[in-house]
Amino acid sequence: MSVGGSACFIDIATSRGLIVRLRRGLPSDEAALRAGFEHLSEESRYHRFFTAMPELSDQLVEQFVNLDDHGRLAIAAFDPAEPSEVGTEDGLGIGVARCIPARTDVRSAEFAVTVIDRYQGHGVGRVLLEALVVGALRSGLTTIYGHVLHENSAMVRLLGRMGGRDQFHEHPEPGTRRIAIDLEAATTTMGGRRRAYATLFS
Ligand SMILES: CC(C)(COP(=O)(O)OP(=O)(O)OC[C@H]1O[C@@H](n2cnc3c(N)ncnc32)[C@H](O)[C@@H]1OP(=O)(O)O)[C@@H](O)C(=O)NCCC(=O)NCCS
Repeated sequence: MSVGGSACFIDIATSRGLIVRLRRGLPSDEAALRAGFEHLSEESRYHRFFTAMPELSDQLVEQFVNLDDHGRLAIAAFDPAEPSEVGTEDGLGIGVARCIPARTDVRSAEFAVTVIDRYQGHGVGRVLLEALVVGALRSGLTTIYGHVLHENSAMVRLLGRMGGRDQFHEHPEPGTRRIAIDLEAATTTMGGRRRAYATLFS
């Protein structure tokens, strides 16, 4: 694990031995976000957005890059061993996680995680979600929740590893579950990584 200097990032090894660079999302990440979307298969897009989603809407980009609102948080993941597609020094953009505050509960936020297909199954989703959990806890939240298709076994398994539990809500989309993570409890599964993630938010 190593920690970057002026631009605050960490390089962290996933459970599968991949070195991933994590940093907070920036308004300037729009180009990387759009490039990453092109690397998502139809299935990944469907799992993430519950629809075919041929292109990334401006509204979705805005949710990621407009981070001024209280409770909004985004984490970006890169492979520092591969060149950036958008001319930055971070490396290749391989995944994002973000949460936006719930309308009805100030201690809760809705999250989403996406890893480009070529990097799925290498532990990237897990480190992204762990970093998001630590950041959300630091910003005063107690819970984050996500909407997940029943068929999305990778996400269901990842959330299970982090203590995720089904929440019942009034208008579920057909075929989906709403799964919540208790932030404090989830940090107990991170070991020493928790301290590394915390440097992103200090
Ligand atoms: C869901 C997603 C974020 C998971 O990220 P990832 O980097 O592939 O996941 P990880 O490698 O960290 O693996 C997480 C767990 O899922 C398991 N897993 C990975 N791919 C799997 C698959 N296809 N089927 C079943 N389990 C799988 C891993 O083994 C791991 O479990 P383990 O800790 O017991 O070994 C990623 O697959 C993705 O972006 N999918 C498309 C978008 C999406 O579905 N987003 C979620 C909506 S909120």
